[in-house]
Amino acid sequence: MEFSVKSGSPEKQRTACIVVGVFEPRRLSGVAEQLDQVSEGYLSGLLRRGDLEGKAGQMLLLHHVPNILSERVLLVGCGKERELDERQYKQIIEKTIHTLNETGSMEAVCFLSELHVKGRDTYWKVRQAVEAAQAGLYTFNQLKTRKEEPRRPLRKLVFNVPTRRELPLGERAIQHGLAVSKGMNVCRDVANMPPNICTPRYLAEQAEALAERYDNLSFSAVDEQQMAELGMNAYLAVGRGSEHESVLTLLHYKGAADDSAPIVLVGKGLTFDAGGISIKPSANMDEMKYDMGGAASVLGTMQALAELQLPVNVIAAIAGCENMPDGKAYRPGDVLTTMSGQTVEVLNTDAEGRLVLCDTLTYVERFEPDTVIDVATLTGACVIALGAHASGLMSSHNPLAHELLNASEQSGDRAWRLPLWDEYQESLESPFADMANLGGREAGTITAACFLSRFSKKYNWAHLDIAGTAWRSGAKKGATGRPVPLLTQFLLNRADSGQSD
Ligand code: BES
Ligand code: MN
Ligand code: ZN
Repeated sequence: MEFSVKSGSPEKQRTACIVVGVFEPRRLSGVAEQLDQVSEGYLSGLLRRGDLEGKAGQMLLLHHVPNILSERVLLVGCGKERELDERQYKQIIEKTIHTLNETGSMEAVCFLSELHVKGRDTYWKVRQAVEAAQAGLYTFNQLKTRKEEPRRPLRKLVFNVPTRRELPLGERAIQHGLAVSKGMNVCRDVANMPPNICTPRYLAEQAEALAERYDNLSFSAVDEQQMAELGMNAYLAVGRGSEHESVLTLLHYKGAADDSAPIVLVGKGLTFDAGGISIKPSANMDEMKYDMGGAASVLGTMQALAELQLPVNVIAAIAGCENMPDGKAYRPGDVLTTMSGQTVEVLNTDAEGRLVLCDTLTYVERFEPDTVIDVATLTGACVIALGAHASGLMSSHNPLAHELLNASEQSGDRAWRLPLWDEYQESLESPFADMANLGGREAGTITAACFLSRFSKKYNWAHLDIAGTAWRSGAKKGATGRPVPLLTQFLLNRADSGQSD
């Protein structure tokens, strides 16, 4: 879909449909008021007769409104004016796009971007609208033999902004919104792909394909043989029960000077997590194809970054692997020597993500990063703690944690911080090795992060547990594209502040 911004008055628009708000109870918004005057009270007449209450999400499509140049007017209920918040705004936009697609309008001029949303400016409103529109259009039908293409006449959506002065802001919002959406779509496509197709090798191929499309992206990969030479024994142990070779994929994005220390994004890429010998119960095990959601989001973020051409250096490290039970599989009781030299006693082969990540976190030291953020569907405990609404954020570096919380607040892609106090480290003690690969039942999300913290001391590090946010279960099962908005916002902010220079 095509987006643009303009600044004009509603009665002068000559388009297929113009979209204006109505508040509860039966109150016209400012722009609707203007249309009402030109149409000699046509709209207020409708409201008086009770055709539209103005409740959030209500829609009324009108044809041939007197004296109006546009073919249609879509009245959109926006609820009580004072109560219009971010969530409601997004829901209203989603519903509006859906409705527009059900009418025959190929083009629409939308005045909802002029609504007052507390604490948010034109940039935010336009960008969220673009992201909501694009997310609503997403389908995953590559694997269906009969592709039912939904009828989507809407081709062009124009957002109106209150003053001409705000046009550049609106244009930036569209550019950023489109880049984020593109990144989210890449993330969703890769994550939704089934585990017989999406293997560690497939993740590498997707990264390679992306690198071919952009000049300043380059691809490389570390295979099992190289991992063995490097002593990445924890990573290798996890993949040993699988027919599919483990692959650590690297994507380098160069947007700044050579001597500018990179930001490294590490993604957990378990293309399937059966649990290994500590096998998982069979209910919903299919969803463990999403255990590469971290890797998918890192890939999606690289797509957004390349689209935005930000002046930062970023390296993606996509830790592809599959965790299966087999005669060759690693077992509970095994003691592994990690690339860092620290030893780990395996108490449960289902706590595999941290084993793959710990060696990757050591591997990326070679890039002398300024910042490393790992993204992982790491613990079921995180789903219990935060549900589907927020990713878990843990970091030993307060400024970095705050940067990520800010980015989450700006992008609407929520994260919530959990503590990483030293007291939690004690639960990882093992009688046979430097540490065990799990703590007790308590604070599972935090103790998993504690484990990773022991391998990330050489740089500023943060960890995002996206077990609850990477995909939706149930009737609307599917990848969400999170946390691409959060990570992209983080990079946008870094690029703005020039901190990485
Ligand atoms: N990939 C899972 C975590 C997970 C489970 C994410 C369910 C989303 C939904 C991870 O590898 C895992 O199995 N973690 C275990 C760790 C435990 C054995 C310490 C868990 O959370 O149960
Ligand atoms: Mn597991
Ligand atoms: Zn896992």
